Amino acid sequence: MTQKPVVLITGAVSLLGKYLIRELYKSYTLVITAHHISFDIEFRNLVSYIEQTDITKKSEVERIISKYQPRYMVHLASLSNIDYCEKHPHEAYRVNLESVQNIVEMIKNIPVHFIFTSSSMVFSGDNAPYTEADIPHPINVYGKTKSAAEKIIQNLLPDKSTIIRSNTLFGWQPKRARSNDMNYYLNEINNGRPLNLTNRRFFNPLSADTAARIIRRIIDNNSKGIFHIGGNYRITRFEFVKKLIEAFDLKPLTSVHAVPNSFFPAFESRPIDTTLNIEKMTWELRINPPTLLEQLQFFKKEKLS
Ligand SMILES: NC(=O)c1ccc[n+]([C@@H]2O[C@H](COP(=O)([O-])OP(=O)(O)OC[C@H]3O[C@@H](n4cnc5c(N)ncnc54)[C@H](OP(=O)(O)O)[C@@H]3O)[C@@H](O)[C@H]2O)c1
Repeated sequence: MTQKPVVLITGAVSLLGKYLIRELYKSYTLVITAHHISFDIEFRNLVSYIEQTDITKKSEVERIISKYQPRYMVHLASLSNIDYCEKHPHEAYRVNLESVQNIVEMIKNIPVHFIFTSSSMVFSGDNAPYTEADIPHPINVYGKTKSAAEKIIQNLLPDKSTIIRSNTLFGWQPKRARSNDMNYYLNEINNGRPLNLTNRRFFNPLSADTAARIIRRIIDNNSKGIFHIGGNYRITRFEFVKKLIEAFDLKPLTSVHAVPNSFFPAFESRPIDTTLNIEKMTWELRINPPTLLEQLQFFKKEKLS
């Protein structure tokens, strides 16, 4: 029997990690790293090995790479909360940039396909929708760390790396993971809290299970270079929540208001329009994302099953 290729996923106890594991486990041997091992890792039985590690500890990461000799490495580990990164820039650079620098140095002479999850936050928001050829111009610390990491990868691993610039992801977060728009707003609505939502900031969010399917296609096809991933629409958070209410058949007890951006002081560090052009993803990877309603309804069904 031939052995399944090894995929090493860092930061796997995360929204994207959870769906990626489900997408890959049948065809690949999965080794995952978790920052804080928790005994309720839901998908423990789908992975072959779990290593607890701090991604900033170079010798630890070196040990894991040399122990498992992965064919693919999907680097999800990151500090991704924009406000946290703004307040803790040194930590953000250490986790999001220095760890990438270390990994790239470690693997540049071995046959590993490195897949890096970057973000639409590498763009300023002034010139959307953005294609893969557009020049990044980040306006917040998180975007700056991702953009700087991209440059290192492009310089040192030009022929064996893929940079995925993702728009906002949504889905059922695993226990202990960061919340996301779907989880958060469902919770607020179910608890009867009024919602004030911008109708002046634009994005094309994507379900985490569709994102996982795209990464699987990248691995299966050995696709290299930059890919923008997101939904086939340009919406605001107000419109997202309206669709969420429709998909989950909710009857909010309190109001859902559209408000201007000035309502939210933290918006200073957020680009106005992070919509990504997804033509390359559609044509080269042959993935057409479902409509937003279909993506949200998938999660409603998943919860019921
Ligand atoms: N979710 C989105 O909307 C979105 C959009 C664009 C790009 N991305 C990128 O896609 C990737 C996955 O995103 P996600 O939202 O699913 O996950 P996430 O919330 O960004 O979490 C990533 C993982 O990184 C781990 N981590 C943080 N610091 C670490 C450290 N020092 N050592 C080891 N691990 C560490 C976290 O573990 P702990 O929680 O235990 O610390 C977590 O498991 C990230 O790179 C993110 O930047 C996400």
